[in-house]
Amino acid sequence: MSTTLTPDELRRELASATPPLVIDVRRADDRKLRPQGIPGADWRDPLLLEDWAGGIPASAEVAVYCVRGGSVSKNVQDQLARRGVKARYVEGGLAAWSEGEALRADPDAALLLSQGVPEKGLAHAVLVAQIALAVARDQSPQPDLDLVRRGALLHDLGKVRDMGNLHGVAGAELGRELGLPEEVLDCIEKHVRHGVPLEQAEGYGLPRRDFSFTRVEERIVSYADKLADILAAGLAAGMAEARERFPEILAANASLAKDEATLARYSDSWKLLEQPR
Ligand SMILES: [Fe+2]
Repeated sequence: MSTTLTPDELRRELASATPPLVIDVRRADDRKLRPQGIPGADWRDPLLLEDWAGGIPASAEVAVYCVRGGSVSKNVQDQLARRGVKARYVEGGLAAWSEGEALRADPDAALLLSQGVPEKGLAHAVLVAQIALAVARDQSPQPDLDLVRRGALLHDLGKVRDMGNLHGVAGAELGRELGLPEEVLDCIEKHVRHGVPLEQAEGYGLPRRDFSFTRVEERIVSYADKLADILAAGLAAGMAEARERFPEILAANASLAKDEATLARYSDSWKLLEQPR
């Protein structure tokens, strides 16, 4: 059994016939600052684990969370596991859960659904947006976070029209019909094969145009999309590891970058966005 679950996994498990027992293990001071936790969760003081751990039913599957999915919930998960409790902690904690819920409530998420994007597509869009925002917040100067969020949520809009390399172009077309801003359309159009330059466009079956990135936000959206693929394929334990080992993971898994030129573009982006920090 994994020691963690993502906010999206928790959301799906809570809606299932066998929801986990969710325990809020934030420190008392943190909880005072923000009383609202994940709906349905019971709070237990992480410092008093000895007192309450014995009360957990032996058959229960437990999900614990703290503020950011750091040492507090990791420690509680570890202690519960040692007592034989089936426990996992929520990656990114309450912060990641709340951000995911906010993204699901975003007007752009409603737009995706209205255009026929399935639930699975929405979950991918939300994950890419969460990753893209995390990468963007680490940059200096700070990119336009609104553009990063919108570009990431809407990047695969075109998949309702085309499932191949043309879904970026198709998405930009559809987005234009829907009145989306040009900067968002660029994020959508350029994410496929990570910013294809003019001379390579036709080789990918794209119109003969320059799809190179001009804004850092476009680059971040496409990079986050690939990080999401790495996580979905189980090639990294979490976002931090995926970001850290990105070039080697891509090099070892040919199906991810698909060709040498795309791999080289990803490597350039990784150097630009991740080093030095
Ligand atoms: Fe895509």
